[in-house]
Amino acid sequence: MMNVLGIESSCDETSVAIISDGKLISNLVSSQDIHTMFGGVVPELSSRAHLQMIQPLLKQALTDANFPIEKIDLIAATAGPGLIGAVLVGLTFAKGLAYSLKKTFVAVNHIEGHVFSGFLMDEKPEYPYLCLVVSGGHTLLLLVKSETDIQKLGTTIDDAAGEAFDKVSKLLGLGYPGGPKIQEAAFNQPTDFVKFPISQCKNEFDFSFSGLKTSVLRFIQKEFGDASKIPDEKLPLIAASFQYWAVQALLQNTDKVLRKYKVNSLSLVGGVAANKMLRDGFQKLSVKYNKKLVIPALDFCGDNGAMIASRGLQLHQAGVKYSFDFNAYPSLDDYSFIK
Ligand code: KG4
Ligand code: ZN
Repeated sequence: MMNVLGIESSCDETSVAIISDGKLISNLVSSQDIHTMFGGVVPELSSRAHLQMIQPLLKQALTDANFPIEKIDLIAATAGPGLIGAVLVGLTFAKGLAYSLKKTFVAVNHIEGHVFSGFLMDEKPEYPYLCLVVSGGHTLLLLVKSETDIQKLGTTIDDAAGEAFDKVSKLLGLGYPGGPKIQEAAFNQPTDFVKFPISQCKNEFDFSFSGLKTSVLRFIQKEFGDASKIPDEKLPLIAASFQYWAVQALLQNTDKVLRKYKVNSLSLVGGVAANKMLRDGFQKLSVKYNKKLVIPALDFCGDNGAMIASRGLQLHQAGVKYSFDFNAYPSLDDYSFIK
């Protein structure tokens, strides 16, 4: 059994986690609040905040778990995709640590961290499984056949699902991050105030969210002139209708894949997987198709070090090797088992 340190710094969460003998014994996440006043993540501020937080966070994780650093065998860090300055902070820190302590270093693809985050739960996905990844930067429908064999069935042709939530939230004046704000505003509201359209793509499993966002904007302009003039009682109704149709778009394509592909499990991962309506929709799909459902606990949906440690261990056990000259990469296609 191995002791693994996981380090995540790809966007606006600095996180350090420790997995010891297969058990998660620490998962500290520091969310950067600095970005809220700008209505989105400012890359330079993100890198600086990671630099400030990473060492104290590691110290705290080791202290909390009462775990001496010498006992760590494997150090895993996100190497991409993400904000490159932000990624470099965690990656360089991890490589430096691994080099000085003479430990094994593993580079982890952040999206793959999400894809396998279901394995942090007691009930694990069974291969092959259908995985919907919904984060701030990616929307992917994947057929996960093994640790190192992942087939991309669908992706977004424009905005990511989380990005759509963030943009519409900004439009409605609800702030950043948009997902939780929209969910909160839409809570217990009727969903039929506006029927927003879902875009159909050439590839039947692809997504497009920019049309939905534009429809929200057009609706506001037509009905109220501009967003500042939306009556207080209408705002939650618009948020609820948007959330409903954004979630429907995700569920519809997932349903299409389930009709066509034979899988053993169904998994929903990434920041947007925290969405209650989407989680409920997946629950219904799992019943409809009689599939095992694995949705990570909320702590493992948003960015976290636990999924990086877990994926790092998985890769190490699969025999994948990394050298210290492995560098950071900005986009998903650069280095990934997702084909
Ligand atoms: O995976 P994640 O934490 O970071 C990236 O890798 O991008 O995902 C962040 C995204 C943001 O767009 C945020 O608005 C969205 O996840 N999000 C949600 C909810 N919580 C977070 N979207 C919808 N409903 C939520 N409850
Ligand atoms: Zn993420």
